[in-house]
Amino acid sequence: MMRYIRPTFMKADRSEIDAAVAQLAGADPAAVLTWALHRFGRQLAVASSFSLEDCVVIHMAHAIAPDIRVFALDTGRLPEETYQTADRVRDKYGIAIEWQFPERQPVETLIRTKGLFSFMESLENRHECCGLRKVAPLGRVLGALEAWVTGLRRDQAVTRTDTPAVELDDGHGGIAKVNPIIAWSETELRAYADSHKVPVHPLHNRGYPSIGCSPCTRATKPGEHPRAGRWWWENPESKECGLHPAGATGGPPSQG
Ligand code: ADX
Ligand code: SF4
Repeated sequence: MMRYIRPTFMKADRSEIDAAVAQLAGADPAAVLTWALHRFGRQLAVASSFSLEDCVVIHMAHAIAPDIRVFALDTGRLPEETYQTADRVRDKYGIAIEWQFPERQPVETLIRTKGLFSFMESLENRHECCGLRKVAPLGRVLGALEAWVTGLRRDQAVTRTDTPAVELDDGHGGIAKVNPIIAWSETELRAYADSHKVPVHPLHNRGYPSIGCSPCTRATKPGEHPRAGRWWWENPESKECGLHPAGATGGPPSQG
């Protein structure tokens, strides 16, 4: 008897993504996730920083597929509260978080030659640190996946206003990038988290709308932009670390 063996990689091509974008126009996050989980199964994983966005996405994905894969990039500089939230997620959903670490040697070389806070000295140095601690490990994980899921939202940043709900990630080998809550507001997110008892990162209730590495994140003042506390010494246009380069992905914008 012939056994069908699924090829290791069955990436979506642009026409499949275009069809998904048309099919999912105006769809809610659960519908976007259902499509993605059905299409990619265990070749898909949620990228989580354990922000409110990511915990909501994990909750939704877990309701559809209890064996959902979740990975997290441990930069070595995360706030203690992020680890606490990660373990709450692990316990509540029974998910073995796939923690990812940077390569040891280049990080050691960086801090031995430039110190522990070189990222505050120039944009180039900041990109160097993000490159070693986040971008390279992300590339390593995504190299073994057909799709990844993020908690990106359009109103988070000027660099994200055109991001679609489903796209081809040309910067990561052309795998699919799925952004189910891309159209959601902070208010919708909070309401969902409250009504579904989603674990909430404690720093959100201490004035941190956006949370990254500890030395590069601070609380915002009332009226400030939600990402004002991220790399607060930089311009809004440069506030990306390379995980989500603006304009680096293909596919037409969706209505999602
Ligand atoms: S960042 O590029 O500025 O750091 P942001 O904090 O807004 O990103 O998070 C956007 C999305 O990137 C998250 O919803 C999550 O999917 C992913 N992400 C960010 N940081 C991490 C991390 N440390 N580990 C895994 N995924 C992350
Ligand atoms: Fe380094 Fe700051 Fe980037 Fe974290 S956010 S990787 S500490 S520059």
